[in-house]
Amino acid sequence: MKHLIAPSVLAADFTNLGKDIEMVNNSEADWFHVDVMDGRFVPNISFGMFIVKAIKKIAKKPLDVHLMIVEPEKYIEQFREAGADVITVHYEACPHLHRTVQQIKATGAKAGVALNPHTPVHLLEDILPELDLVLLMSVNPGFGGQKFIYQTIPKVRKLAEMITTRNLSTVIEIDGGVGLQNAEELLKAGARVLVAGSSIFKADDPSDTISRMKSIGQNTLMV
Ligand code: DX5
Ligand code: ZN
Repeated sequence: MKHLIAPSVLAADFTNLGKDIEMVNNSEADWFHVDVMDGRFVPNISFGMFIVKAIKKIAKKPLDVHLMIVEPEKYIEQFREAGADVITVHYEACPHLHRTVQQIKATGAKAGVALNPHTPVHLLEDILPELDLVLLMSVNPGFGGQKFIYQTIPKVRKLAEMITTRNLSTVIEIDGGVGLQNAEELLKAGARVLVAGSSIFKADDPSDTISRMKSIGQNTLMV
């Protein structure tokens, strides 16, 4: 199956957000990646459900909401009501992850779990069959425009193997420092969704950059 491109709106121009959302609407991108940061789980504050709701009003593609917050279980229903189609919580922020994943699914949203760069993929072994998506952070979460952590590549391979040997349909999403320079290698390793903020919105031609990312060779892994 063809890979998906999810531009991260964190890198958009917030004085002209509508224009950037229209660009994504009219591009070959598949999802909007929406980063919610609370200043506690990560050392930065972005925005909450109010902005998610505003984006939803004009977005013509699914909203992939990445919750970088502590106690995400308190807000899942509100983010779903605001328009989230995929809700991803951090492994490191959820002591009762199984319950939180069921809570996401009960809202009708797809459920994702994100891992920080230091968190090994084998910790997902028992929860993996419950997950629609695993987001591997390829930078430390909190800011756009950081350098890709190369150790993510073997993590993708390992996780892809866990998924295929168990015949699961969980998709692997990569977030942080992704661009044309590493997209192909990530796809070959088994990634299915590429999140890209700066490499798209800071490009001279964002829409063309999306097309180029989208047209990179077919994914070799059928997950
Ligand atoms: C980082 C966020 C990312 C970020 C990616 O904490 O989760 O989604 O927006 O931005 P780039 O692509 O610029 O690294
Ligand atoms: Zn993100």
